[in-house]
Amino acid sequence: MPQNQSHEIVVLKPKPEAQDVGLMVTRFFDAEAARYDSYNDSVPARRLYIASVNEIIAAELKRIPTLLKLLSIAAGTGKREVDIKEETGCDFEITCVDISRAMCKAARERGLKALQGSWENGAIEIEDHFDAILYLLAFGLLSNIEQRKSALNLASKALNKGGLLFLDVLNLDDRDEWGPQIKTLFAQESLAAAGYDLGDVFYRRVGEQEVSFTHYFTKTEMSDLLQAAGFDLVRVLNVGYGSSPGVVLDLTECGNMVFIARKR
Ligand SMILES: C[S@@+](CC[C@H](N)C(=O)[O-])C[C@H]1O[C@@H](n2cnc3c(N)ncnc32)[C@H](O)[C@@H]1O
Repeated sequence: MPQNQSHEIVVLKPKPEAQDVGLMVTRFFDAEAARYDSYNDSVPARRLYIASVNEIIAAELKRIPTLLKLLSIAAGTGKREVDIKEETGCDFEITCVDISRAMCKAARERGLKALQGSWENGAIEIEDHFDAILYLLAFGLLSNIEQRKSALNLASKALNKGGLLFLDVLNLDDRDEWGPQIKTLFAQESLAAAGYDLGDVFYRRVGEQEVSFTHYFTKTEMSDLLQAAGFDLVRVLNVGYGSSPGVVLDLTECGNMVFIARKR
């Protein structure tokens, strides 16, 4: 994720096929797994953002009287799930899903159940139904709108009726993040003709080779996707990321967007 000049944008033309983007993302996060938690702790903006979103989620989870099972999609190392559970003081079962073998290994080492595979293609057999689902710092890693629709439909299917989905995304209209640069590049580099959607960006850590992908969203784009997948919006919060990290902001053109949505 672009934070503190630690990452840079890479323009790839044409946009690689979805399958190749998936492989790039998997390789990138396999390489990240060993340092992922310390990266989140050592970059102040990242630490403050994550702590604030964890707190928002824990407060909502505490209000679910029947919270027994929680699914975390693209859970990474599972650290946030453990921290969030601790913050709630509640006892519930956590199931993690992640495409990266190394991330799943880290989550299992924390004592969590972790299933390896890509979420959006339904490759993972989930028999349970859940009272809440987390999809944190990861939904934008899906390469195209078909994958995003499929990921949300599967999330909806895995939730009990009335269950809550917590999902955060990068905000294309955040003037303190890469949004303005992404819009400029989209026009200047004729990226639509190269297969990009507005909001798509490839990036890497400065000085490193592995390239990953993410998509920046508008509020309307994300709200429409959630509604089409059978969710009602409960709340959308703008939480500072590039600046005022962790602060819940009044401005829609700042911060990441945190969506809390209920399965109809
Ligand atoms: C930025 S990390 C976020 C981890 C964790 N949710 C958090 O908030 O710290 C993104 C995670 O998404 C996982 N991921 C990426 N694409 C995925 C997919 N299609 N299905 C499942 N996991 C995926 C990566 O392996 C990585 O662990």
